[in-house]
Amino acid sequence: MGRMSENAEIQATTVTTDHILGTPWGKNRTRILMLGSGELGKEVTIELMRLGAWVCAADSYEGAPAAQVAHESRVLDMADPTALQALFDEIRPDIIVPEVEAIATEDLAAAAGSGIQVVPSADVASICMDRERLRVLAHEDLGLATTPYLFAGSLQELRRNAESVGYPCVVKPIMSSSGHGQSVVDSAEGIDAAWHEAQVGRRAAGAGSVSRVIVEALAPLDYELTVLTVSSSAGVVTCPPIGQRQEHGDYRESWQPAYVDPQVLSTAQDMASRAVRGLVSQARRSGERGWGVFGVELFVLDDGSVLFNEVSPRPHDTGMVTMISQRLSEFALHARAILGIPVTRDHVRLCIGPDRVAASHALVVHGEGEVGFGNVAQALACPDTDLRIFSKPVVHGHRRMAVALAVGDDETRARALAARVAGDLRQERS
Ligand SMILES: Nc1ncnc2c1ncn2[C@@H]1O[C@H](COP(=O)(O)OP(=O)(O)OP(=O)(O)O)[C@@H](O)[C@H]1O
Ligand SMILES: [Mg+2]
Repeated sequence: MGRMSENAEIQATTVTTDHILGTPWGKNRTRILMLGSGELGKEVTIELMRLGAWVCAADSYEGAPAAQVAHESRVLDMADPTALQALFDEIRPDIIVPEVEAIATEDLAAAAGSGIQVVPSADVASICMDRERLRVLAHEDLGLATTPYLFAGSLQELRRNAESVGYPCVVKPIMSSSGHGQSVVDSAEGIDAAWHEAQVGRRAAGAGSVSRVIVEALAPLDYELTVLTVSSSAGVVTCPPIGQRQEHGDYRESWQPAYVDPQVLSTAQDMASRAVRGLVSQARRSGERGWGVFGVELFVLDDGSVLFNEVSPRPHDTGMVTMISQRLSEFALHARAILGIPVTRDHVRLCIGPDRVAASHALVVHGEGEVGFGNVAQALACPDTDLRIFSKPVVHGHRRMAVALAVGDDETRARALAARVAGDLRQERS
């Protein structure tokens, strides 16, 4: 890279945007459009409103969590390019904040092209929702270690590539989240079923064309970490690592800090930082900022090696623990970063005191219909606990409806206390 372009890149990173905040009904208000209004979007919305922005929260159904707190809300199919473009034309946002992956990416690109700030950038949002593009960037371009993988665009190709990767392997659609369409395959006999599962479970199933898949070796996991990484006008910083436990592809518990071997810690933070810097450079190449919180998912193996899994270009569900562990939660950090406010190492510190651990416990409710919670008084009697009830209108099958938070003297105690808060809640069905 020549000196001129190096300078241009440094200049681009030091530009800050002086948004006018505090006059949400005024002429100069800062207009923010949330695309996705779930529990994570609700917290981001609250943090943006605390700083005086005007927020419109969009989702596919009425009464979504963020829609209940934003200045305005809209209901639409965000994967429909025509509907999304009409929303952009109506709202004329200064900043678009995607909270989900299923968004018409061509509209995000067009919005970015017209000067709207897309978080973290239109290109990065579309890379991170595509396992193939993300894996190629992370492993082949940035050199991050991953489990061995190949891609396949047909059942025949998957059969061949699964043999090369070896068994047991994991087959996942290129575009999916929350474990949808994923299978662990122990031998060649399971490949047909895994291909079928990926075609059914992929995003936009039924859209016609065949979904490509990634087939990767099943990693011998010791544990998993999330490293929240913030890209802001002050550069890239990493939060203390978050440990997590998954069930059926969904997170159930997380804790911070995760006490890990110092070597693992520095490798994990270095990998997270390199992954995010790589994505931010990608954003800068298209003239965008690349600001926001990223959730970098890492696998730690039995032998202590660390592998990159994937990254969410937004706050991560396991990061809900930061609502009790950090002075500035991942949602507050996201709000600051996207508004151009600097986030430094000192902004991402824990606030729970030395040798204390915080934990979150997701409350996943099974059933159908409206579900409320009773016995909150007993659940929150201990001063080291907290709770977020998402107020989602209904449950269909199973749905994350609340998260319990707690602080304890060690990981075991913090997790047990958070579990107790969740367990104390009485589910009320009407
Ligand atoms: N190659 C692998 N080896 C071992 N475990 C894996 C592998 N791939 C996925 N898993 C397990 O499945 C979980 C979900 O996988 P992954 O993060 O790739 O999918 P996802 O659909 O994007 O999930 P989410 O949206 O919940 O992050 C991982 O956190 C891990 O527990
Ligand atoms: Mg994941």
